[in-house]
Amino acid sequence: MLVSAHFNRLGKETNMVLFSKDGFTGELRIAHVIFAVMWMGLLWFFNFVQTPGYAEMDPAARNNAFDKVTWRALWWFRWAAMATFASGLLILAVNMGDDGYGSAFWKSPSGGVLATAIVFSTIMAANVWMVIWPNQQIVIANARAVAAGGEANPEAPKAARRGAMASRQNTIFSFTVFLGMVGAQHFFPLFEQAEGGVRTLFYILMIAVAVVMELNALGKFGTEVGKPNTKIYDTHQAALYTGLGLMVFVWLFYEIFLGKA
Ligand code: HEM
Repeated sequence: MLVSAHFNRLGKETNMVLFSKDGFTGELRIAHVIFAVMWMGLLWFFNFVQTPGYAEMDPAARNNAFDKVTWRALWWFRWAAMATFASGLLILAVNMGDDGYGSAFWKSPSGGVLATAIVFSTIMAANVWMVIWPNQQIVIANARAVAAGGEANPEAPKAARRGAMASRQNTIFSFTVFLGMVGAQHFFPLFEQAEGGVRTLFYILMIAVAVVMELNALGKFGTEVGKPNTKIYDTHQAALYTGLGLMVFVWLFYEIFLGKA
């Protein structure tokens, strides 16, 4: 049995923070942030470095890199996504209730941005496992077959495009996710409490953004390069600016409708 009571260096009887509820939440938070950094680091590496870099490589070198680098990176990427999601759920589960994530919290400005971040990041985790990974398996199997002197799979370019659109959409969501996750305790408590109408408007807007953008990323409005709906996915710069724009929009919404408490 773990004994948490002990005497500190000043001779005072005390308990270990490690085994208290808040201490445990602290441990979960650290784990969550480490997993999230690994996931987001790889996501941004894929989008800002790998994709433009591979486009400039000759096919033989690229196929080799898919086999040796991307394959390994994708293992860390998808399990980091899973671990981020699981640790986030645990933080929620341990702190559910009126003194933590109860109904008062979800009605507060912090609750609004955290809920938004959770919805966006849950979609992102689903994109990793259900869109990006299956499509990347096709792309990498094709790279390996071609490198071994076999036939190219005609489905591979389509799979690459489907994976790329979901990956760029994840990049777009990622900045607002950080805003909500970090801001929930650190700066959104500075805003005025929201009235029912403003709260409803915010939640409706965010759900609309999540649904419309995700349907777009899944190719429901077309996947052709250069069309108005796919412009945000056609370059990593476009995805970066759209993501930053969405994050600024969320902050401005709070400034315009609420302001400082
Ligand atoms: C892209 C995915 C994600 C990223 C980058 C991310 C990142 C972070 C970061 C940096 C924090 C701040 C820790 C702090 O300041 O104390 C945080 C907190 C948190 N995250 Fe996530 N997270 C992600 C996904 C999720 C998911 C999927 C969930 C839930 C299902 C979740 C639930 C939480 C909760 C409950 C907190 C504590 C918020 C608070 O301070 O009240 N996160 N996250």
